[in-house]
Amino acid sequence: MTGIEPSARQAWLDETSYWTPKWLVPSAWHEHSPFAFWLINALRPQTIVELGTHNGFSFFVFCEALKRLGLRAEVNALDTWEGDEHAGRYDESVFESVTRISTEDYPELAVMKRGYFDDFVDGTPDGSVDLLHIDGRHRLEDVWHDFNSWLPKVSDRGVVIFHDTAEHKKDFGVWQFWAEVSRDYPSFQFVHGHGLGVLAVGTEVPSAITEFIAAANADPDRVRATYHELGARVSATAAVQRRLATTTQERDRARREVDDLRTSTSWRFTAPMRAVTSKLRRAPKP
Ligand SMILES: C[S@@+](CC[C@H](N)C(=O)[O-])C[C@H]1O[C@@H](n2cnc3c(N)ncnc32)[C@H](O)[C@@H]1O
Repeated sequence: MTGIEPSARQAWLDETSYWTPKWLVPSAWHEHSPFAFWLINALRPQTIVELGTHNGFSFFVFCEALKRLGLRAEVNALDTWEGDEHAGRYDESVFESVTRISTEDYPELAVMKRGYFDDFVDGTPDGSVDLLHIDGRHRLEDVWHDFNSWLPKVSDRGVVIFHDTAEHKKDFGVWQFWAEVSRDYPSFQFVHGHGLGVLAVGTEVPSAITEFIAAANADPDRVRATYHELGARVSATAAVQRRLATTTQERDRARREVDDLRTSTSWRFTAPMRAVTSKLRRAPKP
């Protein structure tokens, strides 16, 4: 028994919270997809900017929500697609895979911008971004830099979300940033999945957002527990999918090995011997 009724209608939960992401690519963000689906439905953003996309998990969740809701928008994914000290360095196949999925599945919504975040600040009109997702490198100075340089770009109805607000390992400093910034704006923080901070920076954010923040702060444990549980279902599904992919890969590898063996020189060389052995086995005993 989960304690969550799919039909429950709250200021912070609706049927979109139960959607499963189509693209369960590797990510530390899996557990936030239920809230992200809800957020897109509540905020109805026309322009989204994501700072830090990597394999594209959160990017595809935003696109998928808009597509399923039939909303028009522009979802900008900004990344060097080279990695960093926290995400690790990765090869070109990551960029190619994100490009393939966004071109094939979200051609009307997805815009990939390759380069440093700073390269795109000047080209983005002030007050134009309804949803800003900050998920680049996670040092304290990084998140302050990204927030301060992009804040003027956020619209009057704008919301900023930050990943890793509850991550204290190594030189991660988003938690320190969050402790300060969350005092200056209406806000709510999820603490599962490394933490997700939700900051209503616009002066005219939709009532669905202000109501969510009020309701969530009035009953934080319930809201956090509900989204934690919904998020855990998504990461469990991703884990099963990964195991299935590994099993399939192992089966395919084993098949290839058998094929290679069959066509190998030694296999062909020993064929007459195997034929004799099998004839002898079949011959009736005297
Ligand atoms: C934590 S990952 C993003 C995870 C992603 N949002 C998800 O859903 O899994 C951070 C990404 O930010 C990128 N990055 C970090 N700092 C950057 C910068 N200053 N400019 C461009 N990309 C940057 C890295 O290349 C890395 O792919």
